[in-house]
Amino acid sequence: MLERSPLHTARYAYTPKVPEIFLEPLPHIKALPSEVIEPDKDKELLKSIFPNSFGKPAVKFVKGEGVPSEKAFTVGVILSGGPAAGGHNVIAGLFDGIKKANPKSKLIGFKGGPSGLIDGKYLEINADLLEQYRNTGGFDIIGSGRTKIETPQQLEKSFENAIKLGLDALVVIGGDDSNTNAALLSEYFIQKGAPVTVVGVPKTIDGDLKNEWIEISFGFDTATKVYSELIGNICRDASSGRKYWHFIKLMGRSASHIALECAFQTRPNIALISEEIEAKQMSLAQIVATIADAIAARAAKGENFGVIIVPEGLIEFIPEIKALIAQINEIIAAAGSEYESLPRGEAQRSFILSKLPAETAALFSQLPESIQTQLCWDRDPHGNVQVSRIETEKLLVEMVSRRLKEMSAEGTYTGTFDYQTHFFGYEGRCAFPSNFDADYCYSLGYSACLLILHGLTGYIAAIRNLAAPPKEWIPGGIPIVSMMNIERRHGKEKPVIKKALVDLEGKPFKAFAQVRDKWALSSDYRIPGSVQYFGPPSITDVPAIILQLEQNS
Ligand code: FBP
Repeated sequence: MLERSPLHTARYAYTPKVPEIFLEPLPHIKALPSEVIEPDKDKELLKSIFPNSFGKPAVKFVKGEGVPSEKAFTVGVILSGGPAAGGHNVIAGLFDGIKKANPKSKLIGFKGGPSGLIDGKYLEINADLLEQYRNTGGFDIIGSGRTKIETPQQLEKSFENAIKLGLDALVVIGGDDSNTNAALLSEYFIQKGAPVTVVGVPKTIDGDLKNEWIEISFGFDTATKVYSELIGNICRDASSGRKYWHFIKLMGRSASHIALECAFQTRPNIALISEEIEAKQMSLAQIVATIADAIAARAAKGENFGVIIVPEGLIEFIPEIKALIAQINEIIAAAGSEYESLPRGEAQRSFILSKLPAETAALFSQLPESIQTQLCWDRDPHGNVQVSRIETEKLLVEMVSRRLKEMSAEGTYTGTFDYQTHFFGYEGRCAFPSNFDADYCYSLGYSACLLILHGLTGYIAAIRNLAAPPKEWIPGGIPIVSMMNIERRHGKEKPVIKKALVDLEGKPFKAFAQVRDKWALSSDYRIPGSVQYFGPPSITDVPAIILQLEQNS
């Protein structure tokens, strides 16, 4: 057990705020169906893969005649993928819900992510254990993992263990890939005639599991607040020392939601948004030129310092590198174990180089060796490039520095260029959840319990109106299949939840586009400070700026 700091102890006493409807007795809450929601594309294929889960309505929880049963439930829970602040509170909301339905209900936590279900490794989560984790960060109560449940053997093992343990329901707390697992399991259990309700909960600091019904995934609020504190401090350091350009890479996988939110919070000189770079089809050379021009413009004012935010997934959005990554993915998938047995570094690089077509081979060879190596590293179990390991911030520094030397020689740049690089990612995933995430996660867990009570298998908990105070939140759920499309992973077409990227037509991006030129030249940074847990709600409970921009007209 971790030694408790004063804040750790104080957080146990926090009571999460919840939607008003949750104050009703469970039998007085009904799941009101609204419109049937279907995926945007690949409908026929998805219908054939999920014949029992396709074409279901969204539901919202309202006052009314609910489920009268006082059945004692046995529920399994899995924490999946990268940690996100608030996971323990999802479990707390779920636990309190099923115990309210019947104090004899049991919560079983599968250890180490989905593999805990496949291998039958679990522990019972009782009240004493849970008390140690309420309102704390991390996923350490049961651990997490990235195993994908997809092969017939994995599905069968999961089924056998669920039946052996007498599970009435299974809750999968995870991101897009993990909720895809949940949908596959739900469909499999239906096809096997097993009465196990499978429910998902939207987790990921990346913020890319969102749509009209899921306004934000949990963990995003806390992570962006932690990164923004650090960036704000760096901005102030930059304008105090006046000698460094700070290149800050921020986690977030493909989507730039984290970068955009942190930009609003801190007003850096430059914030790259991958989705815009792809839309404008900007080459690496053009991105470098844009950064170098901005540095030169500040240098002309005597300001040889600044802050640049780089989204983690940028490299995947630069058209020529995107094409290169797609080719490397296919080569790795086709080579299978032959590639897996190669040591990282020179052996993998040469293998890939020997298989690339001439044009992409030339591009690959021009990249710094460290980046070539990182692009060749194994994909995660879901077939994603592990972008957190690619040092894009260093690639940019190297190329910008070269460009500035050329500009100096041409006489278009007269400043001095010194730099620091940073990568913020793991720092923000396990912080004590912000009040927003503590409230949101507890409410998501309680919503998951309600989905279970109503037998809504294949649904994901969804809470709306999140920019308002929690009592006005609108809890409910949507069918997971409605969020899916077909994508190529590990060289094969697979059903997956579509990642929600930054919408260039959306209010947050448009607001950013209006102010960024001013930020580029000014040193008027915004310093948000650290996450506050105590004090007036105007300091402790403010939701993410992009959420406010999306919801306030
Ligand atoms: P998920 O929430 O989708 O699991 O990923 C979150 C994340 O933090 C990404 O932002 C990052 O690229 C990745 O996990 C890093 O993975 P790992 O923890 O395996 O290094």
